[in-house]
Amino acid sequence: MTSAAVSIERRPAPPTPKANPIFGTARRFRRAPLGYMQELVSEFGPAIHYRFFLNLWGYIFVHPQHNEHILQDNHKNYTKLPHPIFQILLPLAGKGLLTNDGQSWLRQRRLLQPAFHRKQINGFGQMMTAATEKRLNRWARAARAGEVVAFDQEMMELTLEIVGRTLFNMDLTNAAHKVGDAFSELNELIIAQATTPFSLYTMRIPFWPSTRKMAHDIRALDRLIYAMIAQRRQADSPGDDLMGTLLSAGDEETGIGMDEKQVRDELITLMIAGHETTALLLTWLFYRIGKHPDVEAQLHDEVDRILNGRLPTIEDIPKLVYTRQVVDETLRLYPPAYAISRAGHEADVIGGYATSPNAIITLSPYITHRLPEFWPQPQEFDPQRFTLTNSADRPRFAYLPFGGGPRQCIGNSFSLTESVLVTATIAQRFRLRSPAAYIAELSPQVTLRPKGGMPLLIEARSA
Ligand code: HEM
Repeated sequence: MTSAAVSIERRPAPPTPKANPIFGTARRFRRAPLGYMQELVSEFGPAIHYRFFLNLWGYIFVHPQHNEHILQDNHKNYTKLPHPIFQILLPLAGKGLLTNDGQSWLRQRRLLQPAFHRKQINGFGQMMTAATEKRLNRWARAARAGEVVAFDQEMMELTLEIVGRTLFNMDLTNAAHKVGDAFSELNELIIAQATTPFSLYTMRIPFWPSTRKMAHDIRALDRLIYAMIAQRRQADSPGDDLMGTLLSAGDEETGIGMDEKQVRDELITLMIAGHETTALLLTWLFYRIGKHPDVEAQLHDEVDRILNGRLPTIEDIPKLVYTRQVVDETLRLYPPAYAISRAGHEADVIGGYATSPNAIITLSPYITHRLPEFWPQPQEFDPQRFTLTNSADRPRFAYLPFGGGPRQCIGNSFSLTESVLVTATIAQRFRLRSPAAYIAELSPQVTLRPKGGMPLLIEARSA
């Protein structure tokens, strides 16, 4: 027996909430996946071992040390598959970067990484602000008419357009509604399945209602993606954007190109991961600053002083310090990826607690970002938490909106650049306000959406 095995045996398992021996906690998770996790952490602490259903068990870990151990120090023991959420995502995302593992993931990550280097992203700045400005010109009319807009939809369309133009050199504006609707439905279906016992079986039954619905939505997206690929294959050269990289890539050993399905999986993954998350961040940001006149005034002061009425550029980003702090604070309170899942393989010791082999593990940036030990008065929206001085002593894994370790988000610089530029461009011209009596509620699906959408009223600042 190894010394590691001995030390595991001597460690306690994390506390376990009482649960019905048959139905476990499944119903509670299905009703409120995030709310129930929060309840468990407040009652039992940062490590929990719970019965999900019958003899299916899971762990929740939320302390920064736990996050660091799972995502970085011992990451080889924690993969995406066969975690149920990734199995449920497979029909949609296939072997794209988000759901892939092992050597195949590493090869694809190395191939895609250069497209996300800072130098590349810097070249996207102008496209990001131009797409935003075009939309703002339409908003000017809505502002004059005192109209409420579906702000979450506006942001989804904008970020999809930006991903399309920057990574695939494609105009996705006409497809935005179709893509948006399909993603929204899939988002709900996936989380409903992930919190349903037996979903791994029912998803294999083609005529099961949720399986059929999901297959229908995926077929609609596939038609769009395969048409994009076909159009590019007919062009004289594959192009020097990310789609071009995928189409011209050959395997290092065999020299054989990537098959159509792998290209499709990467494109669909980047479309989903690359627009939905940033759109939600921007949605929550403008909702929240509309409620904090002091934060809004400081943001306006900075963008007016630095930009003096012109559009922001990449060179302005280091000077838009407060704007970035507002982005960081929004990501703290509303991390679009509010939960991160892993399948543990070997037994392990995490923060002093023993875990069993083949463990199903959930981390939650949303809950970690509210631990009072690291975030005093955690519910308050305070961008000053992210000044250099105030961030200096915080453990790295107390803040993980983009995950961490080797599987950390490939698009984090892309997204932060986009968020600062879009925020500054909008804040220069408009204020957004919630209509009277509207209170945003969370709808935790695969991402953290606002329940029923986010209606906001547009006001021109110059008015
Ligand atoms: C606010 C914006 C974003 C947030 C909060 C976010 C969050 C995350 C998180 C938490 C992960 C790690 C998931 C895990 O460990 O299981 C991740 C992975 C990933 N993200 Fe993002 N993301 C954002 C924007 C983007 C953008 C703009 C892109 C692409 C254009 C992107 C593409 C990806 C991809 C491909 C992965 C998988 C990386 C891998 O496993 O190698 N994300 N993201």
